Amino acid sequence: MSSDSGPYWDPFDREIAADPYPVYQRMRAEAPLYYNDRHEFYALTHWDDVDRSFTDWQTFSSSRGPILEIIKSDIEIPPGTLLMEDPPIHDLHRSLLSRVFTPRRIASLEPEIREFCERGLRELADRDSFEVMTEFANDVPMRVIGMLLGIPEQDQVAVRARADAKLRTKPGEAMQVSKRALTDTDLFADYIDWRAKNPSNDLMTELLRAEFVDENGVTRTLTRHEILTYVTVLAGAGNETTARLIGWLVAVLDRHPDQRKELVADPSLIPNAIEETLRYEPTGHAIARYVARDIELYGETVPTGSAMMLIVASANRDEKRWPDGDRFDIHRTISQHLTFAIGTHYCLGAALARLEGKIALEGILQHFPTWEVDWDNAALSCTSTMRGWETLPISVG
Ligand code: HEM
Repeated sequence: MSSDSGPYWDPFDREIAADPYPVYQRMRAEAPLYYNDRHEFYALTHWDDVDRSFTDWQTFSSSRGPILEIIKSDIEIPPGTLLMEDPPIHDLHRSLLSRVFTPRRIASLEPEIREFCERGLRELADRDSFEVMTEFANDVPMRVIGMLLGIPEQDQVAVRARADAKLRTKPGEAMQVSKRALTDTDLFADYIDWRAKNPSNDLMTELLRAEFVDENGVTRTLTRHEILTYVTVLAGAGNETTARLIGWLVAVLDRHPDQRKELVADPSLIPNAIEETLRYEPTGHAIARYVARDIELYGETVPTGSAMMLIVASANRDEKRWPDGDRFDIHRTISQHLTFAIGTHYCLGAALARLEGKIALEGILQHFPTWEVDWDNAALSCTSTMRGWETLPISVG
């Protein structure tokens, strides 16, 4: 438990967010079961605890959402939103999405992603400086979701702007949650009707055709609303997370120029550098769960109805699991980190995010073997769920 002199962690506090790692270290040492009485939530920070809790969905339920503000609001969770469900219904919905969101489909996007990144970076190549997020990183995942779903290019910018706006919070404030925000599937509404009349080989077409046995044992295809819910979850889960990963690659390698040099000389090291960046600077620091039954932890009872934050960014640097975890090392052996979670809700887009990160970094290093971040004008993003660069100006050359 936290005491007056103990560590204080608040996911809405921008000063703490600037460098939360020392606080996480104190929480691991002094308050392995942390309680924040201002916002009334518990938190776990050790690798073993976070890892174990992700797989114990009977205790740590997703049925009220994975975000603290959503759990705290008594909002009714709309059905069919994968991230906000527990087994068995979750598994039914997930298996249907995995049937169409296959490794083969993801791999087939590679040439198109490469072409898009190359085009974007070539346009920046004659400049002395540019802003990484708005001039490159934010566009990549948005276009990739568009490619996946077959959305016409001119509509893709609007889709990202709306998805991001839903997550934005003012400094120090929690996100305002409304049922409307959770059920807003209008983003793709026009597109699905057009796609139904113009089938192609994209994921949306396959979702329109997919037959499955529903929870009542009826074999059927998905309703229009169910499909819209799926694609809204995909877009929401895949856009900002992946854009922030690209931002972190640029930021972290600026601070480790020797390792950047190694990557330029030997691009085969890039996949492990992506893994290490995911471990070292996860785009989402904490994932929330609703405590569905009393649980004893560190001699205390965490009561049913509590909110629990699983701090993956702390687990990823836990000294018991990671020797010298605060050191960034592209040669580190990484069998598993928790940035994509684990267990029931393990990120369905992990392979796609890795592919996007790899293609983006290969292109960046090829066009700009060195760069310098203008730290005075860089700004961290303003959301309670994501930690990453909103603005990241660099000079190149
Ligand atoms: C660096 C990029 C990404 C990160 C860090 C990330 C992280 C995560 C995490 C932590 C979860 C589990 C949340 C929980 O346990 O409550 C998750 C789930 C999910 N992610 Fe990702 N993600 C990324 C990219 C993507 C992409 C590109 C897509 C697809 C386009 C995607 C689709 C999903 C979906 C559909 C789920 C829900 C899975 C389920 O509930 O069973 N993610 N992601």
